[in-house]
Amino acid sequence: MTKIVLLLCFLLGLLLLAQARDHHRKIEFYELERGDFKLNLTNYGATIISLTTPDKHGKPADIVLGYDSIDSYENDKSYFGALIGRVANRIAGAKFTLDGKTYQLPANDHGNTLHGGSRGFSDVVWSVESHKKHSHITFTYNSYENEQGFPGKLKVKVTYMLIGAHELAVKMIAKPVDKATPVNLAQHTYWNLGGHNSGDILSHIVQIFGSHITAVDKLLIPTGEIISVKGTPYDFLEPKKVATYIHELPDLYDMNYVLDKSFQNHLSKVAVVRDPVSGRKMELWSNQLGVQFYTSGQLNATKGKDGAIYHKFAAIALETQGFPDSVNHPYFPTQIVKPGETYEHIMVYRFTAH
Ligand SMILES: *[C@@H]1O[C@H](CO)[C@@H](O)[C@H](O)[C@H]1NC(C)=O
Ligand SMILES: *[C@@H]1O[C@H](CO)[C@@H](O)[C@H](O)[C@H]1NC(C)=O
Repeated sequence: MTKIVLLLCFLLGLLLLAQARDHHRKIEFYELERGDFKLNLTNYGATIISLTTPDKHGKPADIVLGYDSIDSYENDKSYFGALIGRVANRIAGAKFTLDGKTYQLPANDHGNTLHGGSRGFSDVVWSVESHKKHSHITFTYNSYENEQGFPGKLKVKVTYMLIGAHELAVKMIAKPVDKATPVNLAQHTYWNLGGHNSGDILSHIVQIFGSHITAVDKLLIPTGEIISVKGTPYDFLEPKKVATYIHELPDLYDMNYVLDKSFQNHLSKVAVVRDPVSGRKMELWSNQLGVQFYTSGQLNATKGKDGAIYHKFAAIALETQGFPDSVNHPYFPTQIVKPGETYEHIMVYRFTAH
């Protein structure tokens, strides 16, 4: 009897210890490396801090905007390199109704919810489930019931994996534990293919395989209309310079494209970005239905790594995702995931230079 009690006490102790560890996880840095292709990541926000890859002369440069210190990541308002959730992009009025219940969320963006609320997955410390420098790193996070107002518990797992000489795959998995919940994860790296400190991306050439966009109002909330890009400044069906339409759209882009996919849930090409100066090219593939094309119009003298100052148009973000504010648009593809179901989001980045 005493033995059993002792054993139970021991097990309880282990459990408490594990939990305490869970709440005081250390913020650390982790490298991935294959030859001249290198990443630096942190478990704060499951964030990509840097990605180094060669240009057409074989000269490496870090092509990801970021900061020198974790303090800066904690105070960051731009989501540099971070993993976004529970629901990326905007939710109108900071609320939604599911199974007859209305959920109130933090209104952190002009009365709406942006990128999971005021302290989303980009601002929590993740656990590291496994890390092999020459192959992958897997971060996990257990989101608790009512975290940022969202229903039920959610188990999240994100793996960054080296899959080719200059190829990175990102696999995001989420499983609701006890309640149906909206899930829309996104990876929010800011890319400048000339190097993070090389100026603006206005002469980068972009192609986006989406012939429609989800039209939005002034606060970037979808109106519900899905409109063709033909004859608009949003047409990147053929490769074009980012700045092509700068006279029509002085702040350029922050828009969700509806991707032209033949099959849902299959990997398809999302976008290609090329920098004519360095010769670097980035191809992005994903299984998602949409991609947010953002050209950093809101950056304003942000102090970055190695003394860099990031101005407006310093980078491009291509966040594959479900459509913004889907929870409030019954005609948009649903983002509700139920217990027993698995959300799976895959991205593949392929870098070349010539
Ligand atoms: C990773 O980034 C952090 C924060 O900028 C830095 O302190 C650390 O030295 C970097 N590690 C490598 C290997 O570059
Ligand atoms: C950029 O920041 C400066 C200093 O805080 C401010 O005066 C200026 O209005 C800002 N510019 C924009 C476009 O927000």
